[in-house]
Amino acid sequence: PLIRREDYAPPAYWIRTVDLTFDLDPVKTMVINRMQVERNAALPPQPLRLHGEDITLTRVLVNNESVSFRHEDGMLVIDSLPDAPFTLEIRNTCCPEKNTQLSGLYTSGGGFFTQCEAEGFRRITYFLDRPDVMAVYTVTLRAAKKQYPVLLSNGNLVEQGEMMAGVYGPRHYAKWHDPFPKPSYLFALVAADLVTREQLIRTRSGKEHLLQVHVRRGDLEKTEHAMNSLIASVVWDEARFGLPLDLERFMIVAVGDFNMGAMENKGLNIFNTKYVLANPATATDVDYAGIESVVGHEYFHNWTGNRITCRDWFQLSLKEGLTVFRDQEFSMDMAGTPTARAVKRIEDVRTLRQVQFPEDAGSMAHPVRPDSYVEINNFYTATVYEKGSEVVRMMQTLVGRDGFARGITKYFERHDGQAVTCDDFAQAIADANPDSPLATLLPQFKRWYSQAGTPRVTARGRYDAPTRTYTLGIEQTALPSPRQPVKQAYVIPLAMGLVGRDGSALPLQLEGEAAPVGTERVLVLNEARSFFTFVNVDQEPVPSLLRGFSAPVVLNDHLADADLLTLLQHDSDAFNRWEAGQRLALNRLLAGVNGTGPAQLDDAFIEAMRSVLRHPGLDAAFKDLALTLPSEGYVAEQLTTVDPQRIHAVREGMLLQLAQALRADWEWAYEAHQVKGGYSPDPVSSGRRALANLSLAMLCRDAVARHDAVWPGRAYERFKDAGNMTDRLGSLVALVHAHSELAELALQRFHTLFKDEALVIDKWFALQVTAPEKDGRVFERAKILLKHPDFSLKNPNRARSLIAALCMNNPAAFHRADAAGYVFWAERILELDSINPQLAARLARVMDRWTQLAEPYRSAAAEALRRVAAKPDLSSDVAEIVNRALQQE
Ligand code: ARG
Ligand code: ZN
Repeated sequence: PLIRREDYAPPAYWIRTVDLTFDLDPVKTMVINRMQVERNAALPPQPLRLHGEDITLTRVLVNNESVSFRHEDGMLVIDSLPDAPFTLEIRNTCCPEKNTQLSGLYTSGGGFFTQCEAEGFRRITYFLDRPDVMAVYTVTLRAAKKQYPVLLSNGNLVEQGEMMAGVYGPRHYAKWHDPFPKPSYLFALVAADLVTREQLIRTRSGKEHLLQVHVRRGDLEKTEHAMNSLIASVVWDEARFGLPLDLERFMIVAVGDFNMGAMENKGLNIFNTKYVLANPATATDVDYAGIESVVGHEYFHNWTGNRITCRDWFQLSLKEGLTVFRDQEFSMDMAGTPTARAVKRIEDVRTLRQVQFPEDAGSMAHPVRPDSYVEINNFYTATVYEKGSEVVRMMQTLVGRDGFARGITKYFERHDGQAVTCDDFAQAIADANPDSPLATLLPQFKRWYSQAGTPRVTARGRYDAPTRTYTLGIEQTALPSPRQPVKQAYVIPLAMGLVGRDGSALPLQLEGEAAPVGTERVLVLNEARSFFTFVNVDQEPVPSLLRGFSAPVVLNDHLADADLLTLLQHDSDAFNRWEAGQRLALNRLLAGVNGTGPAQLDDAFIEAMRSVLRHPGLDAAFKDLALTLPSEGYVAEQLTTVDPQRIHAVREGMLLQLAQALRADWEWAYEAHQVKGGYSPDPVSSGRRALANLSLAMLCRDAVARHDAVWPGRAYERFKDAGNMTDRLGSLVALVHAHSELAELALQRFHTLFKDEALVIDKWFALQVTAPEKDGRVFERAKILLKHPDFSLKNPNRARSLIAALCMNNPAAFHRADAAGYVFWAERILELDSINPQLAARLARVMDRWTQLAEPYRSAAAEALRRVAAKPDLSSDVAEIVNRALQQE
């Protein structure tokens, strides 16, 4: 059934306290759930309807007496209840071992773990499983002591001890109490054989806190970075937003089977091992950065998500958009230097464009605050997270950094301890900044929450030499999206500057202003069409618009190559400098694909790339980003009809040309960016490694094309002797992606070295299926890897490492004229649907943009979608995705 935002109604009952007792057993876990319940006095009396899913009810008591109840629409309904507050006791059982969906209580690696967001708690016991019902939890865990020595739940440990021996030997128990009222989605328990890294910290208030990272035996030496990231997160949130740690104990637990990245359960964050475990030998710089940002993200949820939570799931971006914004800011502050900050910003924008823009243009397009859903798990999307974060960032841009911090303070003054809406958040930020454009334009600004689709901004500048004026005419338009045919103008903060041909930053004085106001400013667009006239402009400038990507829009500024080259050379804004280079590259890729220009790079572009690569003043990390051509997926997004094979052929041709034309420069860059000494994942060293690895990949690509063995040989040696995973994987990728003859040997060796490291074996799968497609070899290999003994659909990381990697990250291997890629996709979705519908639905998203494909891809994609849609017992998760896709036809 379709759930609608406008149908929200408060709950008929409140649950004030929950006392849970678990007798943990993989086959049959017994749950006793004692609740203090009271009627919501604001509503007329009505039956109590509790959620429950895949659990077996054994008993229902009200005030210790049995009552009659019934099951209706999958809910447990109790009709006659006292008017006064009462205790409700539910007893039920569940089977964690059979829970392959990994939602609710499940087993992994011999332990018990939970995932309750969004609606997993109802798979543990009957409850009002909705975020506006907040209760104080006390949890007792009982389990066999030998297999499950560590027993954890939210809050503080209040009691633990031995019990009488059970059939499987001695048992023990632990009792936890969480003083903060919380919604059921933040409940968690863990019972497993784990080892712990601990750290006591003292925060500004002088209070002591115990930080713990729990992992499987053998993984302890991989927890240092996660712990350091946690400590840094605690310090940062207090310094930047005045938000201290409010718990005596804060725990992180890593689990190998997990649907998402991590989960912010109060005081007991549960993480995918991918975002906890790292040492230099097994994790790359990218992994280290991912850990820092996810540890931060989950920690920051303690305030933005847990202390103030969502009234209903339509408000998901209230906590996710805000918390992504906070983790991005955290990573930027940790990066330190202005360029390192810009590099992080470029990476975030790249993800937004590669994932969220297509989402916003495809079958699953939805507003940051969706209006309806069938399965809420399908709305943990790039739009809710990443675009949601951009919306928060625009608020900060409109009120300033200090104003935003004031707004956050007001938000907590008003709403601490409550379940609220996105409106409440925006109102708090605006009210703390009454004179800001956010406050004066608030209802219009909030269209960012209600309208789907990526707005387009078109700008044209005109310089009038006699009057020394420069006029910018700017238009915004929003294309229709599914269910939203007509859209209204947004409030768009456009950060900008004017750059002289000589590279100088021109003073910005708008008509009517007495004097220039700096060399960079934010123009606020709030009409379909706006004009800005700058006066006292000495020379015809190049406009540098949307600096730092100040709004999530597609910008067409009509800049010619010469202007873009000026920006690439001189723009003081590192983001726009990068963007200018990408635009130059994109223009060439598009001309090649469309046949409106040569499928070849011109000397001007190659020379521009050479000077970036050789530039004495630019950081290696920036060069790495600037010298990476826009991805095939990003190129596809610019086109109305997509031939993935054509895009691949053109881009591969240009890459090879860039490899050849800059051979000597790549050689120089490779040698000049070797990192000596011990491993550290800091931005400078990781930037150098990234550029060295890119250079090596280019050199191998060029060498293989010339049948020259020197660089592949060097790559192989570096692969063998590498002192860290970043260099080892970089070298291996260089060999495999260049289709070098040494690739097989290196792959085998890599597998042997790391056969017991699950996260590294994931990389081994992914890197093989993301190699540039060549005569169908990569796809063939994917089919063979499916039968590899290490492959399994049951482990989400492993499933993603092969299926998502191939279907999402390798368009040319996936979109085949013979439709074999789509057949492969349909078969995997059908298999996975019965195991883990949430994961299946995520992988099904590959087909969001199928209507954009050229024939024969389009018809074949439709057929694959219909095949999946026809599965008799298809999950509602996958059904929602494929049906929405098919509705586009
Ligand atoms: N709240 C978690 C996070 O963003 C993600 C939980 C995802 N859960 C889900 N059912 N999709 O940190
Ligand atoms: Zn989150």
